[in-house]
Amino acid sequence: RLIRLQRGPGNRSNSSTVMAEEAKKLAACAAVDNHIQNNQVVGVGSGSTIVYAVDRLAERVRQEKLNIVCVPTSFQARQLILQHGLSLSDLDRHPDLDVAIDGADEVDDSLTLIKGGGGCLTQEKIVAGCAKHFIVIADYRKDSKVLGQQWKKGVPVEVVPMAYVPVSRAITRRFGGEAVLRMAVSKAGPVVTDNSNFILDWKFEQAQNWKEVNTAVKMIPGVVETGLFVGMAEKVYFGMEDGSVKVR
Ligand code: 5RP
Repeated sequence: RLIRLQRGPGNRSNSSTVMAEEAKKLAACAAVDNHIQNNQVVGVGSGSTIVYAVDRLAERVRQEKLNIVCVPTSFQARQLILQHGLSLSDLDRHPDLDVAIDGADEVDDSLTLIKGGGGCLTQEKIVAGCAKHFIVIADYRKDSKVLGQQWKKGVPVEVVPMAYVPVSRAITRRFGGEAVLRMAVSKAGPVVTDNSNFILDWKFEQAQNWKEVNTAVKMIPGVVETGLFVGMAEKVYFGMEDGSVKVR
């Protein structure tokens, strides 16, 4: 059920922001309720949608007295886990996860994802790769037939700082488009990831064979990881504008 919050009269951008926030919450709650059970080790993703999932998880842990251990995918996720009083672990102690839940920037028809809008793609991919089930939560704006239809910022690629120019040239020479160093909002310098690396945002020109692209880009010296998640997501929960949840 969609709870419609108060909006300014005729303010379309405000109303769509409110709808999107509600949609994120719907998707997050449905995924936590359907995929998390007692005695599980849970990977906790990054971004704004995951905040709703952690809220719901903490509520269930309190109400149902669940024994849940959480493994974070970023500093943000670590803080969220601690702020909610959940049990924090890592891949040293818990290398086998039951489930990982995370957001996405765009999801195509075959559940290939673009991730890394928040710059946490490397740890997100590691944690998702350690989980038996990788569940994605998103609002309706992320649902796409083909990657690039909705998300216009391109595929994030984490690079070792000294290599960002050669990596950018190698990607664009081979695949076209433009790979731009992500700058901090202040423009004072580049965004630095939790792993002390830089991010290139590769704005591709057309849809590609993403599995091949992912493998080829990863082979370029200096590339740490790409934000292409191919064949990893088991299910995606989309919160919809009409208050329903669509599962793919
Ligand atoms: C961070 C991510 C996020 O999961 C992705 O950007 C989606 O974020 P949001 O839930 O805020 O839309 O990949 O690296």
